[in-house]
Amino acid sequence: MGDLMNLVLFGAPGAGKGTQGALLARRLAIPRISTGDLLREAVRQGTPLGRQAKQYMDAGELVPDAVILGLVREALASDAAKPGFILDGFPRNVAQAQALDEILRSLGRRLDDVAVLDVPDDVVVKRIAGRRGCPSCQSVYNVHYEPPRRDELCDSCNSSLVQREDDREETVMRRLQVYRGQTQPVLAYYEVQGTPVVHLEADRPVDEVQAQLLSHLGS
Ligand code: AP5
Repeated sequence: MGDLMNLVLFGAPGAGKGTQGALLARRLAIPRISTGDLLREAVRQGTPLGRQAKQYMDAGELVPDAVILGLVREALASDAAKPGFILDGFPRNVAQAQALDEILRSLGRRLDDVAVLDVPDDVVVKRIAGRRGCPSCQSVYNVHYEPPRRDELCDSCNSSLVQREDDREETVMRRLQVYRGQTQPVLAYYEVQGTPVVHLEADRPVDEVQAQLLSHLGS
C-alpha cells in the first residue's frame, strides 16, 4: 500500500498543531508524532532523556537535536507510521529539516506537504494562557475557547485538568522568539526544495481550520 499522507504540521506555539493533528490522525487513521508529547512523556517517566530535556523545555528553548532525532527516527520507522504520519512540532530548525530528509530517504519515503497554521501573536498568547490538559488521557481544553463541561475536570475521564509548566507568560514569550528565530526559517528551506507549503487561516474555530486542512489535502 502506498503512503496515505506524510505531513508536517507547522506553526507557532499555541497555533493549534496538536488540536488539528489529533483530529486529522483520527480521521486518516495514521499516527500524529508530536515531539513535544514524546518529550513530556519522557519527563513524566523520569527517564535520563526526560531529565535532560526538562531544563530546556522549562526555559522555552529547543531541546538538543541529537535527543529529538533519536525519538523521531524511532517513531517514523515504526509499523504504526507505515501508512503515513503527521509530524507535529518537528522539524523546528533547518538542521532538523535536513535530518528528516535523510531519515525519510533511508526509509524510501518523502514528505508530501507542509501545512502552516497562521495565527496572530496576540491570539496564540491567549490560547496558551487558556490551555488546560488532562494528565490521564491527554485531552486538551481551553478555558476561553473549548471549555470542559465541568470546571477544570476532563470531559472524558473526570481527572483534574492541569496547566503545562512551560505555559507561564515569560516562557511563552521566549518560545515565540525561538519560533521566529530558529523555526520559521524551515519554511524557506522547504520552499527552496520544492516541498509544497500551504498556509491555513488558523485564527478560526477548530472545525473550520480542520475543514481547510482536509480540503487542501483532498480528503
Ligand atoms: P511543543 O509541545 O511542540 O509545543 P509548541 O510548539 O510550543 O506547541 P503547543 O503544544 O504549545 O501548541 P499547539 O500548536 O499544539 O496548540 P494546541 O493544539 O495545544 O514543544 C514544547 C517544548 O518541547 C518546546 O518548547 C521545546 O523545548 C521542546 N521541543 C518540542 N519539539 C522539539 C523539537 N523538534 N526540537 C527541539 N525541542 C523541541 O492549542 C493551544 C490551545 O488553543 C489549546 O488550549 C486549544 O484547545 C486551543 N485551540 C486550538 N485551536 C483553537 C482554535 N481554532 N480556536 C480556539 N482555540 C483553539
